[in-house]
Amino acid sequence: MNPWNHRHIIDLASFSQEDYESVLQLAQRFRALPKTGSRKLPALQGRLIVTLFFEPSTRTRSSFELAAKRLSADVQSFNPNNSALSKGETLLDTAVTYVAMGADVLVVRHRSTSVPEQLALALERMGTKTSVLNGGDGLHSHPSQGLLDLFTLARFFDPLNPSIKSLKDKNILIVGDILHSRVARSNLWALTASGANVVLCGPPSLLPEDFKDFVKAPPPGQKQDPVRERGKIEIIRSLNEALPRADAVITLRLQKERMREYLVTDLYSYHCEYGLNHEKLNLCKNPTPILHPGPVNRGIEMSSALLDDHSISLVNEQVTNGISIRMALLYLIAANDQSNDIFER
Ligand code: CP
Repeated sequence: MNPWNHRHIIDLASFSQEDYESVLQLAQRFRALPKTGSRKLPALQGRLIVTLFFEPSTRTRSSFELAAKRLSADVQSFNPNNSALSKGETLLDTAVTYVAMGADVLVVRHRSTSVPEQLALALERMGTKTSVLNGGDGLHSHPSQGLLDLFTLARFFDPLNPSIKSLKDKNILIVGDILHSRVARSNLWALTASGANVVLCGPPSLLPEDFKDFVKAPPPGQKQDPVRERGKIEIIRSLNEALPRADAVITLRLQKERMREYLVTDLYSYHCEYGLNHEKLNLCKNPTPILHPGPVNRGIEMSSALLDDHSISLVNEQVTNGISIRMALLYLIAANDQSNDIFER
């Protein structure tokens, strides 16, 4: 495995192809561990992982906590609604309080872009060794979701040896509310780094034209792109035109809570134009898997029948893979001993 150089994981723009491979290889090993008997590995024994979620979550928070427990870490979950924030404590003081309790990793979700990054910088300035892992910030980034989507696709195309090479030259269609989606932004960095070509599909109100240039400039804060050659991004407005070329489809939730004004005419028309169902998938050339980061608005992004058809819908598979990916991330940033023995005990 390549040396791991990231103390914090804030976004995927700074990931090299070697970084992606390290995460996928480890996640595949964690995924292959038996589900019965002793499920715990001692890799993070004595470490403290704290989840600081200032926005609601089912999947991300629970799977980070399960991942940490499966690696034998101590886990502390912070609930903002029942905390000293109501007495005027600042977010930084809350975080520093957990650092004083010995937190090795803070997993942070916040509705404002850049809160995890600002927190990471503040903790560095204070001379702490605590790492920050972004559990989703505003519209900016959701790195663990981007990685678990990548892993799910790599396992679909190459179940025994999932790697970024499994996605080279594949056409991945991303449909829906791309403007408000931090998941889509993380997907774009990860998929193009793998050499996949991405087609974006949605109405202009939810998919501005400049998304086709999303990965063209060097990533923010970097002189050059750590990825040697990326796949292309294209915009196709008509779903019926885009589906026949797709090797896989990621559809995204309409994020009404992030819209300043209502950006779709009505939900029925949106579903007719951009929603997925079995009939529309007849336009695809092969059996084409459907992914969705969740939570799903049934009957809007996709029909209930399609969501529950597990021969096509990989939504539950994404959730299962999320634990292995988050084990890999926690292991890479927090394990003292990264020798192969943890798999041999
Ligand atoms: N995909 C995702 O972030 O889901 P949660 O909001 O449930 O964590």
